[in-house]
Amino acid sequence: MTKKIHINTMGCQMNVYDSGQILNRMAPLGYTPTEELAEADLIIVNTCAIRAKAEQKAFSFLGRLATLKGLKPELIIGIGGCVAQQEGRKIMSRMPYVDLVFGTHAIPRLPSIIERITATRCRIVDVKQAPTLAPEDFTTGPFTATDVSAFVTIMRGCDNYCTYCVVPYVRGRESSRPPEQVVSEIRHMVAHGVREVTLLGQNVNSYGQKEGLCTFDQLLAMIDGIDGLERIRFTTSHPKDLSPALMQAFAQLPKLCPHIHLPVQSGSDATLKRMNRRYDTRHYIEKVARLRQIRPDIAITSDIIVGFPGETQADFEATLQLIRQIGYDGLFAFIYSDRPNAPAARFDGKLDEATKKERLQAVLTCQETFTLQKNKALVGSAQQVLVDGLSKHVSNENEMDEPVLDAPSTGVQWSGRTGTNRIVHFLNEPSADSGNEMLTGRILELMIEKAMPHSLWGRLTPHPIGSSGKGAHPYAA
Ligand code: SAH
Ligand code: SF4
Ligand code: F3S
Repeated sequence: MTKKIHINTMGCQMNVYDSGQILNRMAPLGYTPTEELAEADLIIVNTCAIRAKAEQKAFSFLGRLATLKGLKPELIIGIGGCVAQQEGRKIMSRMPYVDLVFGTHAIPRLPSIIERITATRCRIVDVKQAPTLAPEDFTTGPFTATDVSAFVTIMRGCDNYCTYCVVPYVRGRESSRPPEQVVSEIRHMVAHGVREVTLLGQNVNSYGQKEGLCTFDQLLAMIDGIDGLERIRFTTSHPKDLSPALMQAFAQLPKLCPHIHLPVQSGSDATLKRMNRRYDTRHYIEKVARLRQIRPDIAITSDIIVGFPGETQADFEATLQLIRQIGYDGLFAFIYSDRPNAPAARFDGKLDEATKKERLQAVLTCQETFTLQKNKALVGSAQQVLVDGLSKHVSNENEMDEPVLDAPSTGVQWSGRTGTNRIVHFLNEPSADSGNEMLTGRILELMIEKAMPHSLWGRLTPHPIGSSGKGAHPYAA
């Protein structure tokens, strides 16, 4: 008998990958996915604990499920992910309608847990964390691709203990997957239509070190050799361990996209020290310079935390100064949030909300100029774009900047991404030889005509539609 599973995925790409694993593992039990909450026999909430707001979002969604459970008592409600790991049994007393709390290491056990709940209607808490993960903890069920681009978790956990961060406590110790397993999973994905993979780890640069596997750059080289795969991305690389070999990979591996997310967090050495980031701004700036030397077109993005305990006005200005000096292609900025598990929650010098908000706004305003400037610099250039599919929504931004209004009224709006991870929208006139459904997963050449704050507008060039893949890399060795 088929049953329906609904998963609400919050948080980072790791959770997106995990939710895919949950679907794969539940399929043999007869569960098929549904978008509709009301249709579901099993609802899984895959949560994030990175900031207080993320946690609140999880609890407010769970709160809404109480009514549903009242109407449908046989419904199974499970909470997984980082909030589940952090809160464990406490959730059971707080939310009596929740059947299951499962931690970040419990996904392989999920099918047997659900079978037990179905048979006995017991309530289960499984937040056991293994000190190291075995290869079988990473294996997935049959993969069904729905997108051109897929995430692949290559390592779990984190051993860095930045003082603000909850991840080492909720994801456990760092463990890497064997390279053969990663490669075979990607081959399988490619056979099902995936063209781009993003390799995931909290600090990919320490991939395999504990286990004595190959290094991350060696893993990248193996993946680069997979036929049919067009693009490789990864996230995140901790600045302290960004190795010369990894930097060099940007010049050597044809499929490695010219983009690196290199979170700096702060431009003040004193703050970085209290964050336990274990690099200083001088080292960071040197690494960025080296990357740009190796791969001049590389896009560099970052994360910034504002309002870390004890952050003075001078510390904050140093952050703004660093942002200006680096000239990032994009930035994610966050207001510091106390995480009860993390040591910074007990640091002195907490800032008031108004100051934190002001600082966040200042960072965002400072970055806006750079993002738009960098986008504008691409106008008039030809870009290779991997087509994701039809544009999901014609955003407000488009309405403001009018590219759609300027564009011919016939045709369908598509979107894709450049190697530097910029979104490009374009129109395609449906015709016999380039049917619309054919474009997804293709690499097309687009002439960039207009720059908007968060995306570009392009026009298909008369060059034949095809995939560029191998040999297209301007810096290929
Ligand atoms: N492992 C990655 C980061 C993962 S968390 C790395 O080290 O680069 C993603 C981002 O969330 C972090 O880079 C940081 O900017 C932000 N973040 C983490 N903990 C936070 C907290 N307590 N308050 C605010 N932002 C936080
Ligand atoms: Fe958190 Fe630091 Fe680990 Fe990143 S490296 S997950 S910020 S502890
Ligand atoms: Fe959130 Fe957990 Fe990812 S805390 S950011 S879902 S690792």
